[in-house]
Amino acid sequence: MAWKTLDDIDLKGKVVLTRVDINVPVEDGRVTDATRIEKIVPTVKDILARGGKPVLLAHFGRPKGKVVPEMSLKITLPALEAALGRTVRFAEDCIGAPAKKAVAALGEGEVLLLENTRFQPGEEKNDPGMAAALAALGDVYVNDAFSAAHRAHASTEAIAHLLPAAAGRLMEAELKALERALSKPERPVVAVVGGAKVSTKLDLLTNLVEKVDYLVIGGGMANTFLLSKGIEVGKSLAERDMAGTAGEIFRKSLDVGCEIVLPDDAVVAREFKAGAESQVVRADACPDDAMILDAGPEAVKRIVGVFEVCKTLIWNGPLGAFEIEPFDTATNAAAAKAAELTRAGKLVSVAGGGDTVAALNKAGVANDFSYISTAGGAFLEWMEGKELPGVAALDQGA
Ligand code: 3PG
Ligand code: MG
Repeated sequence: MAWKTLDDIDLKGKVVLTRVDINVPVEDGRVTDATRIEKIVPTVKDILARGGKPVLLAHFGRPKGKVVPEMSLKITLPALEAALGRTVRFAEDCIGAPAKKAVAALGEGEVLLLENTRFQPGEEKNDPGMAAALAALGDVYVNDAFSAAHRAHASTEAIAHLLPAAAGRLMEAELKALERALSKPERPVVAVVGGAKVSTKLDLLTNLVEKVDYLVIGGGMANTFLLSKGIEVGKSLAERDMAGTAGEIFRKSLDVGCEIVLPDDAVVAREFKAGAESQVVRADACPDDAMILDAGPEAVKRIVGVFEVCKTLIWNGPLGAFEIEPFDTATNAAAAKAAELTRAGKLVSVAGGGDTVAALNKAGVANDFSYISTAGGAFLEWMEGKELPGVAALDQGA
């Protein structure tokens, strides 16, 4: 890790261009989940404490280079002010005269938020001109947006080459947690990968098989793996055309000594709805007219047993159709065990990805995990072993 942190650069009296990810869910003009906003507070407060003037750069939604009023970052101001406990000033554009004027007027102890960087066509093109216009506003660049680091955009990538650059506290925490979970983990390591499709997580599975000792496969993608072993799965969600690929991943796991853990039994139902009548069957005995909606009790026992012998757990994706009861049972039970082992200091547990965080919140254990990433796509790409442009740019610096 070559990147600098806030401890490594002088911020006194400096305008600190701080890239944050406050791309939060909004309904009826109000922020419905302020987690991402709360997570940037330590960075902003630290910059203020060091005498810097934080100027926040952020995107919101996907306006595609045009001004879309409903995607104005103004919507986040009340939540931002509540989280920071102070007034936040706002500029109507992220570059040019409005931004320059607002930065010049910024007093000590004040925070400024610039309008949606994606209103500018240069942002998503990683345009050097746009990056230069942003860089001209400040003295130092801090990137605290791990969850947007998989995008090579002007405010996440190009700008980092133009100013002294450092990681913010959230970026630093994310990178350290991820390093501890996968780059330099304490072994044995178990990865839980769930979700609907093998096809969307192919790169992920291929990378993990080489890196972890146990790979627990859950959700719809487990059905595709069962198919690859010639096991019929009735009406279950599965990708028949991916069965060959799943088989290849299986063979590779044998070569590299990774144990793939598939469910031994399953909860099946004939309808996908809350409280649907369900039964537990052996994984190779799914009735033709039924579908697998969760891992069964034997499968959970085995998964929990794997957790017990491991020192590190990395989790992406639920084990079953967790949105609907009772098909959240396996996910909840496995999550509870991971939380218990983590609390006892026996396991380092890291989780990320939209559905995963929702599932762990639902299980009521998110606070007990060692680290929960705020990132969706960036967490996945990182788990796939890909270089994240926003992080790589911090490494190279200016
Ligand atoms: C996210 O919400 O995943 C990040 O803010 C990135 O947004 P994007 O997927 O629109 O690039
Ligand atoms: Mg996304």
